[in-house]
Amino acid sequence: MLYRSLLRPLLFRLSPETAHELALHSLSFFPGLVKRLLTPRPMQKPFGELRRLGLSFPNPVGLAAGFDKDGIALESLAALGFGFIEAGTVTYKPQPGNQRPRLFRLQQDKALINRAGFNNKGAVAFAQQVRTHRPDCILGVSIGKSKTAPIENAVEDYLRSFEIVYPVADYIALNVSSPNTPGLRDLQRAELLEDLLRALQTRNRELSEQASRGRLTPLLVKLAPDLGRAELDQLVDVVKRTNLAGLIATNTTTQRDGLRASKEEIAACGEGGLSGIPLRQRSTNMIATLYNLTTGLIPIVGVGGVFTAEDAWEKICAGASLIQVYTGFIYQGPRIAQEINEGLEQIISSEGFGTLDEAVGSRAKELSMIS
Ligand SMILES: Cc1cc2nc3c(=O)[nH]c(=O)nc-3n(C[C@H](O)[C@H](O)[C@H](O)COP(=O)(O)O)c2cc1C
Repeated sequence: MLYRSLLRPLLFRLSPETAHELALHSLSFFPGLVKRLLTPRPMQKPFGELRRLGLSFPNPVGLAAGFDKDGIALESLAALGFGFIEAGTVTYKPQPGNQRPRLFRLQQDKALINRAGFNNKGAVAFAQQVRTHRPDCILGVSIGKSKTAPIENAVEDYLRSFEIVYPVADYIALNVSSPNTPGLRDLQRAELLEDLLRALQTRNRELSEQASRGRLTPLLVKLAPDLGRAELDQLVDVVKRTNLAGLIATNTTTQRDGLRASKEEIAACGEGGLSGIPLRQRSTNMIATLYNLTTGLIPIVGVGGVFTAEDAWEKICAGASLIQVYTGFIYQGPRIAQEINEGLEQIISSEGFGTLDEAVGSRAKELSMIS
């Protein structure tokens, strides 16, 4: 297809971040053109009714957090056929992120390494932008800790972001798993996470009463793929105790094993989170483990190395009821949501399932992490 044969080779000549900015700004400037040229034809509800998190999803394929941190191209991105978009991660304070270069391609591995460090214009600017440029799909907003907020003040910092993005978000994702903000992953420790989730759910309740919404905004937490089985056990208990709406598995990994790239190439990238194909199995295994630990009662958004409908299908069978892509979007191009959705439609019927929901978790036992 045109992207893989023509546009990608051109974009891949640019530095990864320049290519990203060019693509994102082009999308933000020409939503009309994107809609005319790239919007897939509507599908006839091939997945049955996709009710998740108390919301109705047009399809199960979403764009993962980090692609559009400031929400500048959401209308065009929705026009590419994504059922939902997770914008952000935004922080309470605007911040520049880490020094460049901070994004690297490992092409032989179909992977990326990034240490962006939550570069964003801050929660207030984000909410203003989105108020006037809402996408025509479900909008999740990912919030993270400002770099300058010490970990002791993390709860306060997250609360501020939460309040600001609350009016524009269909769901809010708590990012406590980026490897690129020092100390952030400590918030995945059960005691700290419980304090954070309790505070946010209390504020969630207060805000929903004030707005007479009659229901809480779904709050999800996004986890790192580098957690062990024992840690997941404890986290799942916290998630149940705090009535969380869902889990997102997974963020990028700090591991580097099994890569085709040479040691020198890997070392030249430096620190950061690895995404794409090398993350796929690890993330799928974690999804299956989480599905088993939660006995399928808490929706899981599956993310990590999804490039094709087959990859998405495996994550669904592991226990994901929604899917997200990031690195696959870079390598496969703007039709990835459409390609995965059409592929899933075929797989569901060829595997003999009536709806997508019947398949969720159907292989969770077999695919879970070996303890
Ligand atoms: C350049 C880049 C920036 C990212 N920024 C964020 C972010 O701000 N917040 C977040 O939760 N995840 C972020 N991620 C992680 C992705 O959302 C996703 O969880 C991860 O890349 C695995 O999916 P993939 O293999 O499809 O890329 C980022 C990933 C990349 C490659």
